Amino acid sequence: MKQGIFITFEGIDGSGKSTQAQMLAARLTAEGVPTLITREPGGTVLAEKIRDLLLFAEEDPAPETEILLYAAARAQHVGKVIRPALARGAVVICERFTDSTLAYQGFAAGNDPELIRQMNTFATGGLVPDLTFLLDLTPDQGWRRVQERSSRIGTDRIEARGLSFQEKVRQGYLRLAAAEAERFCLLTGSDRTKEEVHQQIWVRFLEKFPFIPVGSKGKGGK
Ligand SMILES: Nc1ncnc2c1ncn2[C@@H]1O[C@H](COP(=O)(O)OP(=O)(O)O)[C@@H](O)[C@H]1O
Ligand SMILES: [Mg+2]
Repeated sequence: MKQGIFITFEGIDGSGKSTQAQMLAARLTAEGVPTLITREPGGTVLAEKIRDLLLFAEEDPAPETEILLYAAARAQHVGKVIRPALARGAVVICERFTDSTLAYQGFAAGNDPELIRQMNTFATGGLVPDLTFLLDLTPDQGWRRVQERSSRIGTDRIEARGLSFQEKVRQGYLRLAAAEAERFCLLTGSDRTKEEVHQQIWVRFLEKFPFIPVGSKGKGGK
């Protein structure tokens, strides 16, 4: 049974998901809140193998194959990692989740979003994030950041798809956020430092979950 809090980070490549997921997890951990940080696709041994297939396969998967592989990885991740951690009462922070599939494979790649919603529900058993941070950035701003990062750690198949695709993804995300304004927290712009964005995230987190026991350091941030 779900008891913990499920937080997801969404946004195009380079928008700062990894950075902000890690900063939030570090802050909660420092406050003594049991926290688990994970990512999609991946998060379990089997799901990480599927991630490698998706991101680094020599052969492009058919659209249906791609959707099914994401769903398979997600089902494993939810069943083996996310739900058990939530049942223990942890705050689970996940980089990318069902909204990524809707934005990328649905809105951007042109597959029926309704079908993808059904696949998502099947894969997750109906698990929906309690709060989703959408980091919004123009694709060329994201691209600049990714290029800096890529020269350090190499790029992958998804990140190689180009700016017009990223813009479609971005618009898909914005539609999702508009449709579910209660669940989403939209953070716009690239002119803020990592710390400034983190502070906005922290304030929203405390607003949404005031019962989380954080010390004076955390409350002082409000
Ligand atoms: N607010 C920010 N301002 C400037 N650079 C940032 C900011 N947030 C993240 N970055 C940098 O941009 C790059 C992409 O960030 P990352 O967190 O990996 O994005 P994502 O996980 O969404 O692809 C990294 O090199 C990161 O250090
Ligand atoms: Mg990342």
